[in-house]
Amino acid sequence: MENLSEKWIEACKTSDLLEGQIKVVKVKDRRIALCHLQGGGIYAVDDLCTHDNGPLDEGELFGTAIECPRHGARFDVRTGKALCLPATLPIQTYPVQIEGDRVKIQIPSSVPLES
Ligand code: FES
Repeated sequence: MENLSEKWIEACKTSDLLEGQIKVVKVKDRRIALCHLQGGGIYAVDDLCTHDNGPLDEGELFGTAIECPRHGARFDVRTGKALCLPATLPIQTYPVQIEGDRVKIQIPSSVPLES
């Protein structure tokens, strides 16, 4: 089986992710939410709220924050930091690289891809 850890994985085309949009890509068992901030900047985070596993991709972006649709926790997509209750733990973030018209993400070897 191919080891995807530490490799740059092609996630989508830049044209598939407009400013203000969130798009989920699956890497093995993991759902990763790509967030294109208004004004620019694409960030990748786990599509899983640390409060009670809400789907962050169904939430909204506010500045550099993503808001969980279930109970309103917000996280900074640049750092993963929980910005308000009810979440207290950060979400996982992933390095993003733009190559031409491709968005690539990197999965650290410390992150398990399959349960
Ligand atoms: S599940 Fe996200 S705030 Fe509760």
